[in-house]
Amino acid sequence: MVVDPRMIYVYSYYRDAELRGATLLLKLLMRVDDSESQVKLSRHLADETRHAWLWTKKIADLGFTPVSITDGYQVRLGQQIGIPKTLVDLFALTVIVEERAQRRYLAHARRPDIDPTIQEILHEVTKDETWHIGWIKGKLRELAARNGGEEKMLVTLERYREIDRKVVAAMEARERDAFGFSFSDEPVANL
Ligand SMILES: [Fe+2]
Ligand SMILES: [Fe+2]
Repeated sequence: MVVDPRMIYVYSYYRDAELRGATLLLKLLMRVDDSESQVKLSRHLADETRHAWLWTKKIADLGFTPVSITDGYQVRLGQQIGIPKTLVDLFALTVIVEERAQRRYLAHARRPDIDPTIQEILHEVTKDETWHIGWIKGKLRELAARNGGEEKMLVTLERYREIDRKVVAAMEARERDAFGFSFSDEPVANL
């Protein structure tokens, strides 16, 4: 089987995003004090590290090793967002990152020429996201309400979303240069 080396980069970007997502959850685990969140974060962290492993294993099964990614999604996001200061900031950032992962994986899974083994991994890593996004959003709202900070939370979410859109647009443009299309593009019908 001939492997397109560009795909090893794509899977390495996915792996990097999962690992950095897990790092964000570890930061939350160290800061959140209620026991219910400790349990949910532990479960959530286990999911993200498993997702990172699924991409790592796929790369290895193809006969490659993961490429070191220094300009991935979270790094670019972090450069513009700065260091999240409050717990609300950290939860808000997690919401944005999770929503983006879900959107991207679903878009990739819609590609008409997709390899079935990749489709399977995309299904596997996407199926946990509804729960991830749901509980993180719920906790974010609860924390913001407790401190009377709903307005501030909405402003923060909007700021992060704006940065996310810019970062993703730049990454998609780079992908189009490399492939002639982005895996996030809507597939063109009847080609
Ligand atoms: Fe994930
Ligand atoms: Fe997730």
